[in-house]
Amino acid sequence: MNNFIVTTTRKPDFATENLAAELSLKFGRKFVRREDFSFDTLKKIHGAENILLVKKNSLSIVTADGELFFHPNTAHLRIKNLRGGEGDRLIDALKISAGSKVLDCTLGLGSDAIVASFIAGETGKIVALEINPLIAEIVRHGLKNFSDDSPHILQAMRRIEVINADCGEFLKNCAANSFDAVYFDPMFRRPIKKSSGLNPIRPLADNRPLTEKIIREACRVAKFRVVMKEHSGSGEFERLGFKILDGGKYSSVAFGAIELTDRNV
Ligand SMILES: C[S@@+](CC[C@H](N)C(=O)[O-])C[C@H]1O[C@@H](n2cnc3c(N)ncnc32)[C@H](O)[C@@H]1O
Repeated sequence: MNNFIVTTTRKPDFATENLAAELSLKFGRKFVRREDFSFDTLKKIHGAENILLVKKNSLSIVTADGELFFHPNTAHLRIKNLRGGEGDRLIDALKISAGSKVLDCTLGLGSDAIVASFIAGETGKIVALEINPLIAEIVRHGLKNFSDDSPHILQAMRRIEVINADCGEFLKNCAANSFDAVYFDPMFRRPIKKSSGLNPIRPLADNRPLTEKIIREACRVAKFRVVMKEHSGSGEFERLGFKILDGGKYSSVAFGAIELTDRNV
């Protein structure tokens, strides 16, 4: 994990300072009192690359590229559309419905997990994995504490279980057929920089490609489908055995699926 310190806003209340102290213990990193220092000065004094910033009701990470914080992003509009009877490409690709159990192997900022959780509902389950501990921490905290949204979106957020883990390792320990669908949204081999809400995550995200071994494990763990999102035209679909799904002909992003209902296991 890259080098970081923990600090707070300039005049923290007791709870904020307590949480900062707790997180510094959890991660074994220095807790630095903010006083009146700028982030650049704190980074210089403590030789830190990044800062985990604890605010009154949220966490963020200050990197060289800016501040990364949790926000439902596109999930808000996508859920509004779903409620209005429109489709969603991820949900169509996963083929999930109320009660479904989904393993999201690449949580990132959590938009896809929130939309899946909205559809899976109270009787379903979304487990979401994130390999970077700082991303996992701010998104876990955001999913539990973000309050500025409508109740059905907040409920969908609260139901997601976030686990800081490498999906390859996690999948090895899952029982066969333990999720209805397993989903991957890795950092694209060729990033779509201009349109992506993911730019702030880039300095921290794990960019390694998925392996055939990970996909084999996912096929063992999923009951019905393994789905991957990638750049349209990406060679990753063929390399990893995904069939590209229709429905996004004019989009720069494509979904691929491996259907497991016909397998002989
Ligand atoms: C493109 S983002 C996912 C975006 C997400 N679908 C959303 O809606 O915000 C990919 C995320 O997967 C994480 N990741 C990459 N490899 C991983 C692995 N082996 N296990 C778990 N997470 C991984 C990256 O760190 C990054 O945060």
